[in-house]
Amino acid sequence: MSLITASRDTACARLATALPQRWAHVQGVGRRAAEAARLFSLEEAELLVAAALLHDVGYAPDLAVTGFHPVDGANYLRDQDFPARLCALVAHHSCAYREAELRNLTAEIAQWTDEQTMLRDALWWADMTTTPDGGTTNVHGRIEEIQERYGPEDLVTFFIRQAKSELVAAAERTEKALRLAGIDYTAK
Ligand SMILES: [Fe+2]
Repeated sequence: MSLITASRDTACARLATALPQRWAHVQGVGRRAAEAARLFSLEEAELLVAAALLHDVGYAPDLAVTGFHPVDGANYLRDQDFPARLCALVAHHSCAYREAELRNLTAEIAQWTDEQTMLRDALWWADMTTTPDGGTTNVHGRIEEIQERYGPEDLVTFFIRQAKSELVAAAERTEKALRLAGIDYTAK
């Protein structure tokens, strides 16, 4: 079974029934990742789409251990023998270390390394340009939507405010590469 098929099956099993909106989002992020896949080798393209499909698997209620989905997801995927690089991408997706700091989970996320590559940027871009329903948006719209959804006093709002410059920078690096490659990534 290919890595993408295994990832889609795992995400579907954990999210489709328990959290259908999250499943719709995850499928949208997978489609976004597939748009950027042409920037990478075949092996890395597969890894990118697989990580996109699995990035939010840690939201599944039965996987909650720390209550912080990037870490819970990465630990679960490691236990399921997914590749270590994929687990690390999931642990660190969309600037998760910033939220880990606010949740006093720095030690838990530190077992994984943020690879800080174009592939990691593309995963962050795919997540940050996909709406909660799986539609497409841009990074600024997505950050605004998150702040509105959680409200001014929520830890997630504090996190997204702190992470904004890193999220925007990763999205801009990816979009520059997409433009240079002639790939249309505009929100549809
Ligand atoms: Fe996401």
